[in-house]
Amino acid sequence: MRHLMSPLDFTTSELEKLFDLASEIEKNPKKFSTICNGKILATCFYEPSTRTRLSFESAMYHLGGNVLGFSDAASSSASKGESVSDTIRMISCYADICAIRHPKEGAPMVASGKSSIPVINAGDGGHQHPTQTLTDLLTIRSMKGRLSQFTIGLCGDLKFGRTVHSLINALIRYPDIQFIFISPEELKIPDYIREDVLEKNNIPYKEFVRLEDCIGDLDLLYMTRVQRERFFNEEEYIRLKDFYILDKNKMALAKKDMLVLHPLPRVNEISVEVDDDARAVYFKQVQYGVYVRMALILTLLELL
Ligand code: NCD
Repeated sequence: MRHLMSPLDFTTSELEKLFDLASEIEKNPKKFSTICNGKILATCFYEPSTRTRLSFESAMYHLGGNVLGFSDAASSSASKGESVSDTIRMISCYADICAIRHPKEGAPMVASGKSSIPVINAGDGGHQHPTQTLTDLLTIRSMKGRLSQFTIGLCGDLKFGRTVHSLINALIRYPDIQFIFISPEELKIPDYIREDVLEKNNIPYKEFVRLEDCIGDLDLLYMTRVQRERFFNEEEYIRLKDFYILDKNKMALAKKDMLVLHPLPRVNEISVEVDDDARAVYFKQVQYGVYVRMALILTLLELL
């Protein structure tokens, strides 16, 4: 039995297979519409989410399966003091596969150790968000035809943004990837990513504070929101929340084929005037998220 805790749980060739399957689903969704008949997905979300939880649920329904779960810790037995380990043992009796989001880093990993069904990490604190990374990679691969030879800019909250941490981990396995990190001083990438992931693997990276100073060099721009819920101090959040606003003027400095990605939700960091730009693919990303989660459910349930 396999779980998904980190994007690195799959080799790059396993990811290729997963993305091929997702693309096949995109082309011919009908072929897959009953394959999960009689199967149940549990979504256990101890932290708010709209996109990720509904994306999982939509994926399971599109495969002909059913869904049960909870969408916040207060409405689950966690509020009575039940441990994640006990919850997953119970869920294992009710469902065939489970997606867990939790504010504590490592909680889905603890759950997977006690589970008799596949567990998917749907985001753990500021740590990892592997299915968002699968979504990001499928979007890039589908729109650019490759996952190598890119200069990618990651902009915003690089300290707390788990989608950023997962994406960096995943992209370093592809050839000729160069990172440009754009953040205020207070929200730079954590030292463990800098030292253990980038420097250890000799991955080239540069750091900027101003987006205008580097946007023209980018093939991909990954915008992120400032992660309010991970701040200890509201004043600090307010000071930093509008540090970056991608607008038409900045887009005019970018390459004609640069893609703009964002895991969403967006707050102010991308002006709505950018939404109509052909380079803005963040809503397409949402659709790819459903295809890749469908492919993941089929793979973990070994239904193909
Ligand atoms: C991201 C998350 O939860 O980390 N959202 C998502 O899953 N699409 C990004 C965010 O909340 O900023």
